[in-house]
Amino acid sequence: MTARRARVRSHVGGARTPRSQRGPSGGHPAPPTTAAAARILCISGPNLQLLGTREPDVYGRTTLAEIHARLERRATALGVEIEARQSNHEGTIVDWIGESRAAGIHGLIINPGAYTHTSIALLDALTAVGLPCIEVHLSNPEAREPFRHQSHIARACVGRVAGFGADSYELALEGLVRVLARGRSHA
Ligand code: DQA
Repeated sequence: MTARRARVRSHVGGARTPRSQRGPSGGHPAPPTTAAAARILCISGPNLQLLGTREPDVYGRTTLAEIHARLERRATALGVEIEARQSNHEGTIVDWIGESRAAGIHGLIINPGAYTHTSIALLDALTAVGLPCIEVHLSNPEAREPFRHQSHIARACVGRVAGFGADSYELALEGLVRVLARGRSHA
């Protein structure tokens, strides 16, 4: 497979204008016909803009911008396109998930931060769009406080990568690309 340049628009912090309000988004995407066509959206939730300085013993010293840059390099090697965003706002993340299918996204990677353990709205959004989704965490929530043991979004996800620090994101990308490729071979 020939590697092609990944398109990464890294966006950290705050709301951005939804794609649907920036111009015509053109209906539901066809399934990708080649690995090069796959488009992936990576969403990080609250407080993850503070990575690098936030509880480094738990989350490491890699910044979110560095994680996004690593994702770009890995996406390039895998021949897929990736867009990475972060927001502290549950409703913004719900909007991004809800518009993703119509915007031509084929798969999602999401680290919802603390919303993992609280948000039925994120579960409903992921269930509604029905795109393959990988849940990702830097830490291993199962090995932490009891209130982090439940993930509300897990039932809407194909799988979960947790506990590998910044590497969790790249491992999630690799897993999602395999899931998308599997979907094509069954098409
Ligand atoms: C986290 C784990 C969550 O429990 C926590 O609220 C976070 C980060 C992780 O990546 O390890 O904000 O999602």
